[in-house]
Amino acid sequence: MNILIIGGGGREHAMAWKVRQSARVNTIYCAPGNAGIMQIAEPVPVAPDDLRGLAAFARQHDVQLTIVGPEAPLCAGIVNEFHSHGLRIFGPDAHGAKLEGSKVFAKEFMRAHGIPTAPFAVFQQLDKALAHVKKKGAPLVVKADGLAGGKGVTVCQTEAEAELAIRAALEQRVFGQAGATILIEDLLHGEEASIMAVTDGKTIRALEPAQDHKRVYDNDTGPNTGGMGAYSPAPVITPAVLREIDHHVLQPALAGLRQEKIEYHGVLYAGVMIHQGRVQVLEFNVRFGDPETQAVLPRLRSDFVELCLAVADGRLQAHEMVWDPRPAVCVVLAAGGYPGPYHQHHPISGLAQAAALADVAVFHAGTERRQDQVVTKGGRVLGVTALGGSLSAAIARAYQAVACLHFEHAHFRWDIGAKALARL
Ligand code: AMP
Ligand code: GLY
Repeated sequence: MNILIIGGGGREHAMAWKVRQSARVNTIYCAPGNAGIMQIAEPVPVAPDDLRGLAAFARQHDVQLTIVGPEAPLCAGIVNEFHSHGLRIFGPDAHGAKLEGSKVFAKEFMRAHGIPTAPFAVFQQLDKALAHVKKKGAPLVVKADGLAGGKGVTVCQTEAEAELAIRAALEQRVFGQAGATILIEDLLHGEEASIMAVTDGKTIRALEPAQDHKRVYDNDTGPNTGGMGAYSPAPVITPAVLREIDHHVLQPALAGLRQEKIEYHGVLYAGVMIHQGRVQVLEFNVRFGDPETQAVLPRLRSDFVELCLAVADGRLQAHEMVWDPRPAVCVVLAAGGYPGPYHQHHPISGLAQAAALADVAVFHAGTERRQDQVVTKGGRVLGVTALGGSLSAAIARAYQAVACLHFEHAHFRWDIGAKALARL
């Protein structure tokens, strides 16, 4: 069958790479893709935000399954559009996607369905928000309601910081309409982890857990990024914690979706905080994580296309996922300047040498082909994943591959997986 993948980052390269391994697949199409994806997929001459155009393309090219990577097309209703043409697609519709597209919607959903999360209040008026901060005191977390490219959350240690964050959103409108409504919530302590679950609206199943590294520098310092690396499994998610997550987060979320009559066929990703074995949800995402996917999919031994079909067709109950017990580590190579304004168009060398190492996959994120060269394009450029017989072996192998790769002003973290090693 032919498959269409929407997106063009490291997550989508990992998905395309896994789809390519399925015996059922003929042609993979990808919109917009990147230099790595285009080695295994065909380009789509349609703008990635032209949902009608994409549906028309899928019909014309006999696409039997579309898999959506990023949240923006899901929030914009790509699933509604495809369903209206009878096309099969993996992902929630626009209603379900509000769990990521509106933090207020997500928090109210959690409150209504008994899912543990930090206490919160919602504001649109500056004076009321500032008065709330005076009353509560710091620390606090200020969040823009809508999609803000991962920049809408400010953890505030002081009241002054909270005031700045509130004014930035409500007064200066730095997030535009996405910050016209804000949430102010209590700060949670503990260790974060990512649980990506798949659901067909009747069954919900967690994939192997992962942990992301959001800060740009070693030891979790510096500004937040989209993610500088990941590893799977996450030792903080013990079997007992996983049961807690299933019981208090995943099953209530599934019941809530059904009760609110939200048709949901896709990923429900819970960003959770774990403290003394108790779990609280920080956020929901409605798609695979990036870079968590680059650490989790290489561990999936069973067929990824079969999994996506089972989710899209409502047959998840009967589907069995099989996992490689070996840990995987993904190290992200970022462009100079990232997460601020970053360098672009630098040639990348060593791609073939790195990929030739056993149990290594080099996933492209922000790359493009210019003549005969692969050059940098995005802030996160490559995700280098390695499997190993132990976590330390996986880490060593990943950094061995990283050492093969070069582009001007590249930077990456040296401590991916170190937190998990310390826990083991
Ligand atoms: P979110 O997009 O809501 O996950 O927020 C992004 C990041 O901000 C999370 O990964 C956490 O590191 C941090 N964060 C968000 N909410 C809280 C909270 N209530 N307490 C502590 N940290 C938080
Ligand atoms: N790695 C965090 C995310 O995908 O949102």
